[in-house]
Amino acid sequence: MSADQPVLADSESPPRWEYQESRENPSLAAVRDRYGLWIDGGEVEPLSQKWFPSIEPATEDHLAMVAEAGSSDVDRAVRSARDAAGDWATRPAGDRAKFLFRIARLIQERSRELAVLDTRDGGKPIREARDIDLPLVAAHFFYHAGWADKLDYAFAGVNPQPLGVVGQVIPWNFPLLMAAWKVAPALATGNTVVLKPAETTPLSALRLAEIAADAGLPPGVLNVIPGAGRTGADLVSHRGVDKVAFTGSTEVGKQIRRRLAGTGKPLTLELGGKGAHVVFEDAPMDQAVEGVVNGIFFNQGQVCCAGSRLLVQESVAADFVQRLRRRLLTLRVGDPLDKNTDVGAINSAAQLEKITGLVEAGRSEGAQIYQPPCQLPDRGYWFPPTLFTEVSQSHRIAQEEIFGPVLSILTFRTPTEAVERANNTPYGLASGVWTAKGSRILWMADQLASGVVWANTYNQFDPASPFGGVKESGFGREGGRHGLAAYLKGMG
Ligand code: NAI
Ligand code: MG
Repeated sequence: MSADQPVLADSESPPRWEYQESRENPSLAAVRDRYGLWIDGGEVEPLSQKWFPSIEPATEDHLAMVAEAGSSDVDRAVRSARDAAGDWATRPAGDRAKFLFRIARLIQERSRELAVLDTRDGGKPIREARDIDLPLVAAHFFYHAGWADKLDYAFAGVNPQPLGVVGQVIPWNFPLLMAAWKVAPALATGNTVVLKPAETTPLSALRLAEIAADAGLPPGVLNVIPGAGRTGADLVSHRGVDKVAFTGSTEVGKQIRRRLAGTGKPLTLELGGKGAHVVFEDAPMDQAVEGVVNGIFFNQGQVCCAGSRLLVQESVAADFVQRLRRRLLTLRVGDPLDKNTDVGAINSAAQLEKITGLVEAGRSEGAQIYQPPCQLPDRGYWFPPTLFTEVSQSHRIAQEEIFGPVLSILTFRTPTEAVERANNTPYGLASGVWTAKGSRILWMADQLASGVVWANTYNQFDPASPFGGVKESGFGREGGRHGLAAYLKGMG
């Protein structure tokens, strides 16, 4: 590029940055051909005699065959957790802290391996797995190690008691991080766990069970039983389970709530979202562009709190969309193991089909699509970064969770209209407000029906900060003192 050429021309030709490939070594995460279930402190063959493949979404190759827990396997895992529950609950709390601390340290030691494992099994960019997922996983265990022997101070005037055996079902978008969000608070509060990872990403949860055993965690305290929806349904409806925690789709969340109705079993649900970024005309525009890009393209947009709608004030909308389009030209889509990759593979063929279907609906309902030119690999599941303008509130792409790298852009004129539009979905998980005015941030935070409101930033996570939704995004909080309450008798 000659010196007199601007780095980004006003025309929309891609900037001429070339990146040398910098591929993380896939063999850092050894993967066996076959995995059993993890029950009672060790790997066992499934009574179901069934296995299913876990696929590497970037290549469509089979990574491993994984045991599928049938009803009698679920039963065995719950019994193992029950047998371990008495001893675990009555140990000195400092002991529980020690195990959690050791697990956190082992995760740090093995974080490169675990990042590669989640990247291969799930398709997320290694940069994100390495720099976001894994540090947060370790932080979650450290944080809860800290609480384990201080529960008496967490809630005034109560004697904190564990619930017993906890059944937990997690999704595939942050495989190890969701396991950490579920397992760490449950163990810290003295419960034992049966965890069902998602069928497309079971490997890191199984490795977490191994790590816990290496840390000396007593058998039965943490059981991991891979399988699909059927296994999940068996687990949440098992009579031996004292509490259910679920993260996944709103549809399945509703089914679980119906199933548990009348049983008196405590339940927490972390479901879908349709997060809105609200960008006011006085916002710091370049930061807002970065925040919006991060909010929707992080993890290919397969994030429950993704900022999948942009509400931008009309006076700055044209300029903002222009900036966004130019920023999209610089996103690198492709091999998740390449450290330069910004947007990796979609998790599964089914998820790709869902995204494709909703994008098709967006086009046919009359919204305008923009996708930067990008070369997608021949094999694997991919979807290019996508913007929709001229979106109206009734469009499916403005209402439904796409769970992909697709941003729907709407405009507003007044703060009141921004609130009305932002709140006009069945969901209420997360939103972002971009403005220079502190008073407006506070007013918006008060008006938005949203579990989390980020101001002039997005996707900030900390184990001390409670996370969860309102409306059809679910109920209950994970993280912080609130997250502990969900695993204690009479508190959740
Ligand atoms: P899903 O809700 O079916 O799967 C999530 C977990 O629930 C998996 O472990 C699955 O095996 C399990 N499961 C499925 N059916 C179950 C049942 N009847 N009882 C108990 N557990 C069950 O979500 P799916 O099909 O993977 O994705 C569909 C859509 O859901 C996505 O496109 C996205 O919109 C949303 N989703 C939201 C997530 C979030 O973090 N809030 C995570 C994953 C998906
Ligand atoms: Mg997989």
